[in-house]
Amino acid sequence: MTDLNTLESDVLAQVAGAADLSALDAVRVAAVGKTGSISGLLKTLGAMSPDERKERGAAINALRDRVQSAITEKKASLEAAELDARLARETLDLTLPGPYRRKGSVHPTMQVMDEMVSIFADMGFAVAEGPDIEDDFHNFTALNFPEKHPAREMHDTFFFEPKETGERMLLRTHTSPVQVRTMVSQKPPIRIIAPGRTYRCDSDATHTPMFHQVEGLVIDKGIHMGHLKWTLETFIARFFETDAVTTQFRPHHFPFTEPSAEMDVQCDRSGGEIKIGQGSSWLEILGCGMVHPNVLRACGIDPDEYQGFAFGMGVDRLGMLKYGMPDLRDMFASDSRWLAHYGFSGFAAPNPASGLS
Ligand code: DAH
Repeated sequence: MTDLNTLESDVLAQVAGAADLSALDAVRVAAVGKTGSISGLLKTLGAMSPDERKERGAAINALRDRVQSAITEKKASLEAAELDARLARETLDLTLPGPYRRKGSVHPTMQVMDEMVSIFADMGFAVAEGPDIEDDFHNFTALNFPEKHPAREMHDTFFFEPKETGERMLLRTHTSPVQVRTMVSQKPPIRIIAPGRTYRCDSDATHTPMFHQVEGLVIDKGIHMGHLKWTLETFIARFFETDAVTTQFRPHHFPFTEPSAEMDVQCDRSGGEIKIGQGSSWLEILGCGMVHPNVLRACGIDPDEYQGFAFGMGVDRLGMLKYGMPDLRDMFASDSRWLAHYGFSGFAAPNPASGLS
């Protein structure tokens, strides 16, 4: 038996002394590998008498198990030590700049909004805001929508589940409710624009379920259609950075304005791109009109004393026209190739004096 004891203490000493995983593996192969010392002892059992084999076999197997578990334990501790050493070696300097990837860019909608805000700010308009989730009063009723007006129907408007009171909130279908909120909370004279998201259940090349509008509202004494027309024509010339844009006002109907009009911009849609200042197509970009006396009254303003004009325009559509994008849906598809192509520098601060785009 002494040979077994010596062998065991030898092997265990080698296991304990293994400096790294590959040294440990060499010890393992030399002891319990196919031709290892302990495996070699097991091969001698065949030549023994049954009694001797029983006793000797059990002793060798027990020895092999002890050696094996010593190896497993040592392996775990060597691995842990190696991981600690690696963690200590591979420290990260979080203050280093990251690897260069694609630069981020400003989405065309945001660029166009900034351009629009800067032009109107230059004309003396302040920016107003309202919530995306609106109630029926601000989105429809105060804006003089009759009870059964089709725009209130499900096919246009995203309604929420009714509350316990029966009231149904909705995603605002236009930025016009901000007119109401402004007139209720401020005294004339008022001169605001309200940029923001709007929602309608609609999708094709020039409609997306979520889109952006800029609302405009001017309330003062003696305001008339001439002010409206000048403001919008001046805006369009500045926005497109050219006087060559041709626009047309078409009579239209909105419940909240009287008279009402839509403004179209002349464009060319042949060849899969939209170009302005040429062609035989018209793209509708805004609705406008003189604020209806019922709307003024609903907001507590006396229509005999104050008049005003209002307009609402599609931000994304103006972007399509200015930057030649044929399909509105691409704007919100989050395709990074499209964004890289049409995106704008985050450092650009559009303003009419130094240039917009
Ligand atoms: N709210 C209208 C729409 O989304 C656009 C509009 C038309 C706004 C006329 C106005 C306006 O302020 O006077 O279609």
